[in-house]
Amino acid sequence: MAKTIKVLFVCLGNICRSPTAEGIFKNKIREKNLVESFVHDSAGTSAYHEGGPSDSRSMDYAKTQGVDLSFIRSRKLKDQDYYEFDHILAMDSRNYQEIIDDKPFNATAKIEMMLDYHPDEKYQNVPDPYYGNGDGFKLVFDLLDEAVEQFIKKQLP
Ligand code: 4NP
Repeated sequence: MAKTIKVLFVCLGNICRSPTAEGIFKNKIREKNLVESFVHDSAGTSAYHEGGPSDSRSMDYAKTQGVDLSFIRSRKLKDQDYYEFDHILAMDSRNYQEIIDDKPFNATAKIEMMLDYHPDEKYQNVPDPYYGNGDGFKLVFDLLDEAVEQFIKKQLP
């Protein structure tokens, strides 16, 4: 059997963007019959919401698109993640920089920006929807839906 590819999605709080990415990823690998080929998780560069559920606005919007986020509990990125995962995908350049700054010297994970997989170069950062008026959640979902689709395609032989 082909090697399992382990993917970690990372944002700041691990309650909006990275859970949305993980939920979308989980649905897509199920739809594509690729559940056995991947392991997924998500984390935050902060511990602000450690142990808590995803933001209810993220959960509500994802649910309208058939994506469940209720299984996710927020946790902070840890050293072990840099060895355990093959890919660490950062939601924005601030998260990316923090992930790089905290990287153990012999880390093995490939660290990338999530939207490097989005075909429209206009979008480089997944905008933080937390403090907005609520309309950011659809944009976050749409950007991640496309980028996650392209990421999965790129992993296939
Ligand atoms: P996330 O959004 O990084 O997409 O989960 C945020 C969640 C919480 C906070 C900031 C961003 N916060 O400051 O608590």
